[in-house]
Amino acid sequence: MSIRILATSPLVGPGLQDLGQRHPDLLIARFRSPEWLAALPQAEALVVLLSDRLTAADLDLAPRLRVVGTYSVGMDNLPMEACRDRGLRVVNTPGVLTDATADLALGMLLALTRRLAEGEALARSGAWPGWAPDQVLGTGLAGKTCGILGAGAIGQAFARRVAVLGMRPLFWARTDRTEVDYGTGRAPRLPLAELLPACAVLSLHCPLTDATRGLLGADRLGLLPAGAVIINTARGGILDEAAAIRLLHQGTLGGVGLDVYDGEPVIQEAWFTAPRTLLLPHLGSATRETRAAMARLLCDGIGATLGGKLG
Ligand code: DGY
Repeated sequence: MSIRILATSPLVGPGLQDLGQRHPDLLIARFRSPEWLAALPQAEALVVLLSDRLTAADLDLAPRLRVVGTYSVGMDNLPMEACRDRGLRVVNTPGVLTDATADLALGMLLALTRRLAEGEALARSGAWPGWAPDQVLGTGLAGKTCGILGAGAIGQAFARRVAVLGMRPLFWARTDRTEVDYGTGRAPRLPLAELLPACAVLSLHCPLTDATRGLLGADRLGLLPAGAVIINTARGGILDEAAAIRLLHQGTLGGVGLDVYDGEPVIQEAWFTAPRTLLLPHLGSATRETRAAMARLLCDGIGATLGGKLG
């Protein structure tokens, strides 16, 4: 059988799961399994998930390759330089997961600051003594400052959401703009040294690149005011997790909500006992509508390169 498209298993989810049935020249195999490796020399298109870390050495085994598609907006799982050097087209899924990811970040922020998990545990415990003036008190957000790392589509969508709560967004981004127009308002772009001390909330929305890896190390985290809350729905490597855990135990950070982890799916055990945390399993784009739209984009992008529509 000839193989034009080699996709990673499990390739499930709306829009992707029946691709194999419609395309006899598509092989679905576990990433780097013997079957996947054996098919690589024939593949003209590769489809990977964000958890598949493709390397330049993989590309060397695929002389017929024309396009690499990742079922994600983030492309830190791809050897971008090697793709460029080989003239490969790269397809990702921008735009369609903006709202889903910004919604999740907002949900995490509210869950942490209003202590929803603790409240729910109390309600379910069967031992709720009844309403009390000092019970499970949270922190208000109106009038406070929200630092947003990254001024792309998701950062801007998050700014629109926190502005509705009465927060003041501020941006840090690798751009020359002094101000960011986020659609329903404008906010200054500041250097980290100025932005961090002002933040009641800090939300990460930048890609993981050589420039952002380790961006929030111990020194910079130390610039945040006491009680600040960090939300990370971007990528794990941007935040120094060990430093954040230390600051939580010291009582300096008000909370940390993580949807992504350095080295995921492994989560550092220290997170499980750290106070004031919300831990999610990379759910940023996890709505049926979004995943279907991601599949559509990916199939269209790969189809456009190979000539002919997929899916
Ligand atoms: C992406 O697509 O990069 C997101 O992290 C998925 O949730």
